[in-house]
Amino acid sequence: MTSSVKTVHVDLAERGYDILIGEGLIARAGELIRPLMKTGRDRVFVVADETVFGIHAETLRKGLQTGDLCFHSTLVPSGEKSKSFSQLDDVLSDLIEHGAERDDLILAFGGGVVGDLTGLAAGLLKRGARFVQMPTTLLAQVDSSVGGKTAINSRAGKNMVGLFHQPVLVLADLDMLATLPVRERFAGLAEIAKYALIDDPNFFDFLETSAAALAEGNKAALAEAVRVSCASKARIVAIDETEQAERALLNLGHTFGHALERANDYRSSLLHGEGVAAGMAMALRYSVQLGVCPGQDAVRAERLLNALGLATRIRDLGGGPYKPDELLAHMAHDKKARNGKLTLILARGIGQAYIHRDADLTPLKQFLVSEAGATGIQMKPLGYT
Ligand code: NAD
Ligand code: GLY
Repeated sequence: MTSSVKTVHVDLAERGYDILIGEGLIARAGELIRPLMKTGRDRVFVVADETVFGIHAETLRKGLQTGDLCFHSTLVPSGEKSKSFSQLDDVLSDLIEHGAERDDLILAFGGGVVGDLTGLAAGLLKRGARFVQMPTTLLAQVDSSVGGKTAINSRAGKNMVGLFHQPVLVLADLDMLATLPVRERFAGLAEIAKYALIDDPNFFDFLETSAAALAEGNKAALAEAVRVSCASKARIVAIDETEQAERALLNLGHTFGHALERANDYRSSLLHGEGVAAGMAMALRYSVQLGVCPGQDAVRAERLLNALGLATRIRDLGGGPYKPDELLAHMAHDKKARNGKLTLILARGIGQAYIHRDADLTPLKQFLVSEAGATGIQMKPLGYT
């Protein structure tokens, strides 16, 4: 191990837990997890993304041995389609068939898909088992592994079926990021930029000066970005665990982004983080249109996202088509819509996100028409061919 391990605590009283951030954590997984095991147990249940398991199973096996732990593995096909009722059934059935009990520890080993699915499975297993998040994507390390939102998708939409179920430990091992495809790294950088845009202009400055290093995968820059992002999320979750108010700010860019993802039928041609990046740029431009945000702040945000390898205009996104009427319909069916009015997360400037309630659909539709048909010179983001 070449660097120190940083710890961020999520302060939720008896449900509080640590996020460990550093190198070599999976290689020490057993030693780190052993104190959480119930007396007499030496087997954990790993639910893993099959791609991740194919690359890192040996590191995990040896890592668990450092705490004299053995494991049963349940493999999940990679990709968003695994956040489904049928996959949840497969995971739960496999866990139960192999003897998982409420006192056992379930380990989620993969990105946000496996983290969301495993957290839900753990929450449902025999009325609730404890679980550990071992996030292997940048996005999962800075966002989905922290805060206890678990979910699958249903015919009614994305993340419509889920539980708040907090993990008991998060191991964000920076070594895992070495094998992550570059496009997935960029997608994770979108969620990192989100924390800066919400309420942290100093972090925004750091991201601007470190953008090239972050886009190239520089470990020191990523370590700092993961630490600040986890601290930011931990702070917001501790204030508002079940999203009665402040936690909604973490959805900056998500109502636009989820509509883009849904219009693309959740295909891998538009990753979640890519939808969020474009969605955040749209949220800032819409804030400018409403007259609440200075135009130069929206331009600065867009430049940062582009420098982090992310597209910010609909015409530059993979997948599609993204039709304004369809996007509006998806936004209107969002979890946050009520009586034909929407709650949007907008911004008064960089680091000044706010909850904008009762947004009218008519000006929003005009905005979406202008966005979907927008023309002009746009820097082609990194990572797109
Ligand atoms: P993902 O889990 O699909 O992983 C992305 C891809 O990277 C997959 O193909 C996977 O096989 C591969 N991969 C993962 N780790 C790897 C590694 N170390 N090396 C090589 N390949 C690796 O996607 P994601 O971006 O991590 O997560 C997206 C999901 O997270 C979405 O479903 C989204 O809704 C959810 N999410 C949840 C929350 C929350 O609070 N619960 C927050 C944000 C996003
Ligand atoms: N990603 C949004 C949340 O965790 O609340």
